[in-house]
Amino acid sequence: MLLAAMLVSFISLAQNRLIINADQGDVRINKHIYGHFAEHLGRSIYGGIWVGPDSDVPNEDGYRKDVMQALINLEIPNLRWPGGCFADEYHWTDGIGDPAERPKMVNTHWGGVIEDNSFGTHEFMNFAKKIGTEPYITGNVGSGSVVEMSKWIEYINFDGVSPMAELRKRNGQAEPWGIKYWGVGNESWGCGGNMTPEYYANEYRRYATYARDYGGNTLYKIAGGANNWDYNWTEVLMKNIPLEMMDGISLHYYTVAGTWENKGKATEFNKEEFLETLRKAALIDELIKRHGTIMDKYDPEKRIGMIIDEWGTWFQVEPGTNPGFLYQQNTMRDAHVAAISLNIFNKNADRVHMANLAQTVNVLQAVILTNDTDMILTPTYHVFDLYKPHKDATLLSHDLKSEEVGFGKEKMEALNVSTSRSADGTVNISIANINPDKKIDLDVVLRGIDAKTVTAEYITAPAINSHNTFENKEVVKKAAFKDFKLNKDNLKISVPANAILMVRVK
Ligand code: AHR
Repeated sequence: MLLAAMLVSFISLAQNRLIINADQGDVRINKHIYGHFAEHLGRSIYGGIWVGPDSDVPNEDGYRKDVMQALINLEIPNLRWPGGCFADEYHWTDGIGDPAERPKMVNTHWGGVIEDNSFGTHEFMNFAKKIGTEPYITGNVGSGSVVEMSKWIEYINFDGVSPMAELRKRNGQAEPWGIKYWGVGNESWGCGGNMTPEYYANEYRRYATYARDYGGNTLYKIAGGANNWDYNWTEVLMKNIPLEMMDGISLHYYTVAGTWENKGKATEFNKEEFLETLRKAALIDELIKRHGTIMDKYDPEKRIGMIIDEWGTWFQVEPGTNPGFLYQQNTMRDAHVAAISLNIFNKNADRVHMANLAQTVNVLQAVILTNDTDMILTPTYHVFDLYKPHKDATLLSHDLKSEEVGFGKEKMEALNVSTSRSADGTVNISIANINPDKKIDLDVVLRGIDAKTVTAEYITAPAINSHNTFENKEVVKKAAFKDFKLNKDNLKISVPANAILMVRVK
């Protein structure tokens, strides 16, 4: 009794304490929160994913083998394509049939390069199949037409005799693919047509009417939602679009280090800028809450998903690279942004049903960087790898007391946490320690689980700007973590400085 009392008072005195309610929770963390996004932008598709069957780069049917395998290993739940801003300039019929006959176009948004349409619908759908992910296509509302989008869906999904189904068969695909996730335009407030929310809401209703369900497949229709703090956009869409006409509404939020005009460098920054970037990343929590409150007003059951289909860091491009290609390096700072963002998405999983990191390969906060023949996994890749156990797990409530870390004007909690329970009862604890200089001793109280075993993995690095290069690919990599001690329901973890952990208790 005395011992128990002493233990309780010791724990409550601990500066850093996490109490986990392992036997509670009724919200599932949708695996689609761990989704990705690949646009026809820079070397994302061409060179990053697709090199063509005649390339010297080792490939399978034109897809880079190294990238394919890395994405298979990451078990990505869905992949958004073909944009982004590109989606509203893309005409899908240009990307089917004999590749030699496909028309070329200028990719006006991204570097003014020639797009030869060699990667089109079949190449995307086959890629999704090969890497075991669900395709998520964004249709063209900005410069397309209702009939164009409606025929694309017919081409992909119709299972009977129809002009588009016959065309698909002639192009070598007998069976319909049965796509589920469908975006109706992208950033219609900007590159997707500069529309007002009232105008877009009407357009959405028209486009969605002809986005038909075929062969028992039900489309999950995603309306093009707001940017950042544009709460009015969400309000108008929720008010003017009949709820039964949509399943999701998107939200885009990018983290910059400086201002939008001067976004800061990807690898050169000081501790103050590091913390400022993380503070900005964490603002997504407030955005989710405030857009979510508007959605709650119209959809208290939370049936409609908030789909954060573009998020991540956006820095200056690497010196000497095409400014329109958005190629940036990826450091431990990006890893912390990913960890914090994913922890926040998990926490809001009752409303956030999907999220897509921008972007998969060679663009913005990429998980993979390639050169002609080689590939590196970024620190962000390793965070997604560490966080796999959270996918489809039950969100657990917790209470965290964390010391702060501060540089310059900024102060933040040093520890950032998410907790979940897998189907087999394992409790998953993801922890980021954003203090670059200090190891933190964390006391975890495991309530509601008779804990017997603990396993853990982590990433860490000597510096906040540590990153992998083609010369040194494993500066940041996943490793086993052992610095913990389990004593009944108390787990002590020494969380290293500048580290991200996944601790699993069973
Ligand atoms: O991800 C890069 C671009 O950012 C996308 O094309 C666009 O939707 C957003 O503005």
